[in-house]
Amino acid sequence: MEPLIELRGVNKHYGTLHVLRDINLTVGRGEVVVVIGPSGSGKSTLCRIINRLETVESGTITLAGRNLPAEGKELARLRAEVGMVFQAFNLFGHKTVLANVMLAPLKVRGQKKDKAQARALDLLERVGLADQAAKYPAQLSGGQQQRVAIARALAMDPEALLFDEPTSALDPEMISEVLEVMRQLAQEGMTMVVVTHEMGFARSAANRVVFMAEGQIVEDRTPEEFFTAPESDRAKDFLSKILKH
Ligand SMILES: Nc1ncnc2c1ncn2[C@@H]1O[C@H](COP(=O)(O)OP(=O)(O)O)[C@@H](O)[C@H]1O
Ligand SMILES: [Mg+2]
Repeated sequence: MEPLIELRGVNKHYGTLHVLRDINLTVGRGEVVVVIGPSGSGKSTLCRIINRLETVESGTITLAGRNLPAEGKELARLRAEVGMVFQAFNLFGHKTVLANVMLAPLKVRGQKKDKAQARALDLLERVGLADQAAKYPAQLSGGQQQRVAIARALAMDPEALLFDEPTSALDPEMISEVLEVMRQLAQEGMTMVVVTHEMGFARSAANRVVFMAEGQIVEDRTPEEFFTAPESDRAKDFLSKILKH
């Protein structure tokens, strides 16, 4: 499999806190990698350094074999190739759903309005929200807003999508509609790194599960192997807690 995202020997500190310790991770094109682990283990930081929202002190991060530059135009271009969906939807409240999805293609890519609008409507259709295009984010449910955020990320035609706990802020009845859209993207071959506590999604949609603890990747295995026979005590302990309720 062709590697799309590669991290080699990556280290990151916040002050004296060593949040990422010698991270080696390869995500192949079309692969879905679910990242799980206790709170504070470095999952969000991992997403943020892949997208260069944070810098690292050592190691390399490459996207399709190209080094991710620390700044400049090249960084902006490469960053657009990796979309990110956060726990908080971060939509612009004063813009319609349609305008939110069109914004980056218009501003960053300089697309023509007609083209950006047609594409945005296609994407809203894909996430089941074509009929909500003229509304404002506050008029939508949390699940709908998160689906708009996914459409917005797709509007830049990213090579990969990073999801940082995309359903953690949602009411239970809205979680499945978002996971369903993500599952569909996975089936269509989108390369995805997904931080989530949704173990059903990990089991059914992930090619690999990466388990993190204290800034390290402790296990990196198929969901089948990970859930039926976790190797480390930390993973066993984590699974027993998370699967109990
Ligand atoms: N901007 C920051 N400044 C200082 N410490 C941070 C910052 N962001 C995260 N941390 C700390 O880094 C560690 C890893 O955080 P994070 O990557 O958010 O973990 P997770 O997403 O797994 O809960 C935590 O101890 C957290 O408190
Ligand atoms: Mg986090």
